[in-house]
Amino acid sequence: MRKKIVAGNWKMNMNLEEGLNFAKSVDRYFREKPASKAEVILCTPFIHLAGVSEILKNSKVTLGAQNCASEPSGAFTGEVSASMIQSTGAQYVIIGHSERRSYYHEDDRLLNKKTLLAINAGLKAIFCCGEVKAEREEGRHLIIVKRQLEEGLFTLPAESMKMIVIAYEPVWAIGTGLTATPEQAQEMHYYIRGLVREKYGKECAEGMTILYGGSCKPSNAAELFSKPDVDGGLIGGASLKKEDFAAIAEAI
Ligand code: PGA
Repeated sequence: MRKKIVAGNWKMNMNLEEGLNFAKSVDRYFREKPASKAEVILCTPFIHLAGVSEILKNSKVTLGAQNCASEPSGAFTGEVSASMIQSTGAQYVIIGHSERRSYYHEDDRLLNKKTLLAINAGLKAIFCCGEVKAEREEGRHLIIVKRQLEEGLFTLPAESMKMIVIAYEPVWAIGTGLTATPEQAQEMHYYIRGLVREKYGKECAEGMTILYGGSCKPSNAAELFSKPDVDGGLIGGASLKKEDFAAIAEAI
């Protein structure tokens, strides 16, 4: 059985105090629950990492960042390296979110560098891919995702793939309230797993956790997660409300 994951992506929300309080309440909630079938991850802004890491000591909930630098260290003002993130106790980092790709012009080559640095620092990378609306309307969504994976991820050696989680996030569904239908998600996840199989073999493909992201909420999570190749979700807006986030984690 491959690992199921529900990861919350806080994006640029909550000041330090709000974030720490929220992490405490999420931790408390999952402590009181019988073991969830999914690993629950909070991907916080950089400033929250060290504090949330303290809160999540001995917790069932794990910690991740939302980005890392494309260089290992040095004179890169304002950047935060993968090894700095790892030193906070975080175990995951999101790489290649569509907001990074579009607002900060991060391309496949740069994201490939970030992914390698993350893995070398001992972090697991949640590698995001997904097409924009026009690409889907033109029927190019599979080709686009294939290119993102081939250039950003598939240069990795086979042994590194156990440090990878793939997140399929159709850009037209992120924060828009539009969700991919369970059939659209399944089609893409099945396709992605096939690409991983072609490149790295059956065992790697069967073990690869592939998350869906894009307006995932309590009302649609169970249906999305019921698809055989959908192994959980990367949750934006709904991860900022404890009840919604918990309901999504329980939908696994
Ligand atoms: P959303 O964001 O759930 O708010 O659509 C998902 C994401 O961007 O990871």
